Amino acid sequence: MAQATVHFPRGFLWGTATSSHQVEGNNTNNQWWQWEQDGHTLDKSGLACDWWGGRWKEDLDRAAEAGQNAHRFSVEWSRIQPEPGRWDEAALERYRAMLRGMIDRGLSPLVTLHHYTDPLWLAQMGGWETEAVVPLFEKYVRKVVEALQEYATTWCTVNEPNVYAVAGYLGQGFPPGKNDRKLAVQVLANLLRGHAAAYRAIHEIQRDARVGYALHYRPMLAARSWWPPDRWARNLVHKQLNLGFPAGISGGVLRSPLGNVSVPEARNTQDYVGLNYYTVETVAFDLRNRKEFFIRHFFPEGADLSPDNFAANIPTGLFDSIKWATKAFPDLPILITENGVPDPDDRLRPRYIAQHIHQLWYAVNLNWPVKGYYHWSLADNFEWERGWSQRFGLWGLDVETQARIRRPSADLYAEICRENGLSSEMVAKYCPEVLEKEFPD
Ligand code: FCB
Repeated sequence: MAQATVHFPRGFLWGTATSSHQVEGNNTNNQWWQWEQDGHTLDKSGLACDWWGGRWKEDLDRAAEAGQNAHRFSVEWSRIQPEPGRWDEAALERYRAMLRGMIDRGLSPLVTLHHYTDPLWLAQMGGWETEAVVPLFEKYVRKVVEALQEYATTWCTVNEPNVYAVAGYLGQGFPPGKNDRKLAVQVLANLLRGHAAAYRAIHEIQRDARVGYALHYRPMLAARSWWPPDRWARNLVHKQLNLGFPAGISGGVLRSPLGNVSVPEARNTQDYVGLNYYTVETVAFDLRNRKEFFIRHFFPEGADLSPDNFAANIPTGLFDSIKWATKAFPDLPILITENGVPDPDDRLRPRYIAQHIHQLWYAVNLNWPVKGYYHWSLADNFEWERGWSQRFGLWGLDVETQARIRRPSADLYAEICRENGLSSEMVAKYCPEVLEKEFPD
């Protein structure tokens, strides 16, 4: 067997990503908790990974021992501002302790300020549906950044604004469970305004801050590229999901097939491009699918699917996403803020990781400015409307006992982090089925 190792630049960030509601447990004061109690999710978050009870320490120990040097997590607005007129200093102190915990363990922190959850009081006022949210978000961001700036300089304002708007306002399982295309665009526009206000506020407080957001980017293929209706469907979905928010950042106009919204203050409010990449999707025009505007989504034929058909293992999609980012934002560094696959038995994950890291290396090797990779996720955590049915962790979680179970992928990822690269030996050891493909003789 030919032996080879591909290396990443010195200082490359290797981490995992988590979010408050998915790991903390007992997050009773946000709209997701309410949504769970109302029976809209497969399970309830309950104790989650019990980070609020202190288990963040043992999980960060695992991350550090496994060679990681970075961690992306989020702070919970509903804990920090439990009521419109009240700030919880103890909650902020707890986040300061977590940040110190990361730094002590050699994990460089990336702090997300909004990851899908809103305080109940905000949700009751209509959440992101009206512009009233913008100054409220800015105030919260100021409070957080003032309190945490000693320990963090990299900030992610909003996680996946496109998914928040689509899943919550085009009837795809997120609260508030509405199905209203106009409202979806309005929500996205307010998220963009909130992001822009946060960008300015953070820079006012912290001169060397690096501020961005995490975009869920999903490359789309037309089912039959020679057939104009499929191309039309593909372009529509691509514009709606992938391009709206970035257009707001590059040109100050949120572009959506339903209409454009001018948000001039959003121009150039990004110091890095944050990409969450999971899978590629195929799009077809389908007259039978009236319910979804004659558009049908599926995975490319013969794809290497996750056990629950949630994602297809298409590593070149990561390369294509990065390529898009380098064209859309030529001067900005890129962080892969999420990438992973649900796989309880860890059969697919080792090759998913190895093949995606290999594609990441191709991108880095072209001198594209990718600076870090955060695997989703460290340990299994509460997967929104899909509850505990999806297991994304390098470590498994026994929800009853809180025991963590190390998966082989944790070892593979540890070897990658320690080597700052990927070798043919690693592939031979953890996912020999793709050795010939990744490192041909
Ligand atoms: C992303 C979310 C993250 C997690 C993963 C699987 O879209 O940002 O919270 O749910 O998907």
